[in-house]
Amino acid sequence: MDIDQFLELTKKRRTIRRFNPDPIPDGCIEKILEAARFAQSGGNAQPWEFIVVKNPETKNRIVELIAEAHKYNWDIEKTRVEELRHPAYRGEGRQGEPTVTFKDAPVFIVVCGDPRRVQATVIAAHFIIHEGGPQAHFLKNIGNATQIIHLAAAACGLGSQWVTVSSAIEARLKDLLDLPVEFAVHTIVPIGYPAYTPAPNYRRDLSEMVHYEKYDRTKYATGEDIYNYLLKLRNKTVPAYPYRKKV
Ligand SMILES: Cc1cc2nc3c(=O)[nH]c(=O)nc-3n(C[C@H](O)[C@H](O)[C@H](O)COP(=O)(O)O)c2cc1C
Repeated sequence: MDIDQFLELTKKRRTIRRFNPDPIPDGCIEKILEAARFAQSGGNAQPWEFIVVKNPETKNRIVELIAEAHKYNWDIEKTRVEELRHPAYRGEGRQGEPTVTFKDAPVFIVVCGDPRRVQATVIAAHFIIHEGGPQAHFLKNIGNATQIIHLAAAACGLGSQWVTVSSAIEARLKDLLDLPVEFAVHTIVPIGYPAYTPAPNYRRDLSEMVHYEKYDRTKYATGEDIYNYLLKLRNKTVPAYPYRKKV
């Protein structure tokens, strides 16, 4: 693979939030996880564990728990004016309703981690205080593996969604999956064939974020710039949520 093919893959990977129930060809999930196995991790701690869920009852329960977390999110999100709300919480007739749309994905990969593998490394001993606290390294490592899962799924012609796991439901997810008490559930990644074509992606321009030799202060965003950015972002990202009735 050359750099242009790699660039193509990174742009082809999009968050997919609604799936066809069609099964995934044999071996795909194993290849995706084989790629994730090679993710970078501080001190080579490799703290990840992957639970592959296909059982419909388990998937339904996961969907119910995520829907519950979305209700808590809605309590917070509705304190903002409509224009600044996350697209998942905008649109007539949808406000406050659970917004779990990934339920038809044939496979959910639950990305979990064992923090002891990080705590045991030299990295933890040296950086734990200086680098965002004890969770920082652990979460970065697991995030890396998760990103590779998404890229690998795209390389297989499949869609995937990065589903955040709220602490409000984590304990019940751990019970459901029989996870040891010291483990953490990081993310749920539903994988399958997309049920729609995602709207064009929005990204900030490269020139805004790249600085040569030192930070270019002419590119500094004021608080007002950030506020306006969020407004612009919301208007651009709403179309990425194809299940909204109206915005
Ligand atoms: C840390 C993290 C958390 C995310 N959480 C969610 C989530 O809970 N639900 C969701 O639909 N997408 C989630 N996403 C996906 C982002 O919304 C998505 O990557 C972003 O809007 C850009 O769109 P794209 O992936 O199609 O390029 C998350 C992504 C990251 C990296």
